[in-house]
Parts: sequence; structure tokens; C-alpha cells
Amino acid sequence: MAVLHISDMEDEIQKICEASLTARQMSYSPYSKFKVGAAILCSDGIVVTGCNIENASYGLSICAERTALVKAVSEGRKEFKGIAIAADIQNEFVGPCGACRQFMAEFNPTLPIFLVRVDRKVKVTDLGVLLPESFTPKNTKFDFYNGE
Ligand code: THU
Repeated sequence: MAVLHISDMEDEIQKICEASLTARQMSYSPYSKFKVGAAILCSDGIVVTGCNIENASYGLSICAERTALVKAVSEGRKEFKGIAIAADIQNEFVGPCGACRQFMAEFNPTLPIFLVRVDRKVKVTDLGVLLPESFTPKNTKFDFYNGE
């Protein structure tokens, strides 16, 4: 998995990496105090962001990646070219949790993933690597689903 600097990435990817760092600032995480931001690049070039949103009933907390995906899909976008994820740990790349991997696989099982650090180093990977042999619509009786 390649590690690059944001400035080495193509424009659209730079844009989502920066957007994930900005979205992180909106994190509502009074319980874990662990801020996460995500930014998803839609096939039409639109960028949709999300942050983690926690709850006093801890189990209801939602991750940044799912916030971004839920926002995008609810706005009519289901085709994605990549997602950038920025977390709050210095010197470490933070990968998406298992639930978010599954949630992303629904829409793109090989989605390019950019793990962004605050020093703007970026680890480049994809969902095919992070969630191989994933269970997706093609494995269900709904594999005829045509998006309507
Ligand atoms: N979190 C995310 O937003 N994304 C991840 O991929 C990992 C974890 C959030 C959930 C919770 O609000 C906090 O980080 C600590 O687990």
C-alpha cells in the first residue's frame, strides 16, 4: 500500500483528502473524543463529507464514513470513485471499522480508500484489499436491483 503526500495526489483526490480533514472538525464525539472526518468522491465529481456523531446511548454512534455515505445516497448518489478518511491520531493511519467496510461494499466493493493523517501523508488502499470476498448485492436475491 503506497504512502504519498497529499500534494502528490491528483486534484480530485487532494480535494477529498483536504475535505476529510476539514470534516473532522465537525465531529460530535464528546464520549470518545476521537474525531473522524470522511469525504466521498461521487461519480459526478461532487464531494460529500461526514463526521462521526456520537450519542449518550453509546451504541447509537455513527462513524464518519457512514455519515458521508448516508448523506450521498440520500441525495441520489450511489456511484463513488473514492473515499478519504481522516482520524485524530498522529503518525498512524486509521482504517475504517468493519461495519463501515461492509456499508461501503454495498455500493462499490473495490472502492479506492485514502487514509489521511494530519501531517498530510496519505495511505492509498481499496476495499478489495480491506474487505476481500465481501458479501454484496450480487450475493443476494436482490442482485437484479437496478437502482430504482
Ligand atoms: N470511528 C469512525 O468514525 N470511523 C472509523 O472508521 C472508526 C471509528 C468513530 C466512531 C466513534 O465515534 C469513535 O470513532 C471512536 O470509536
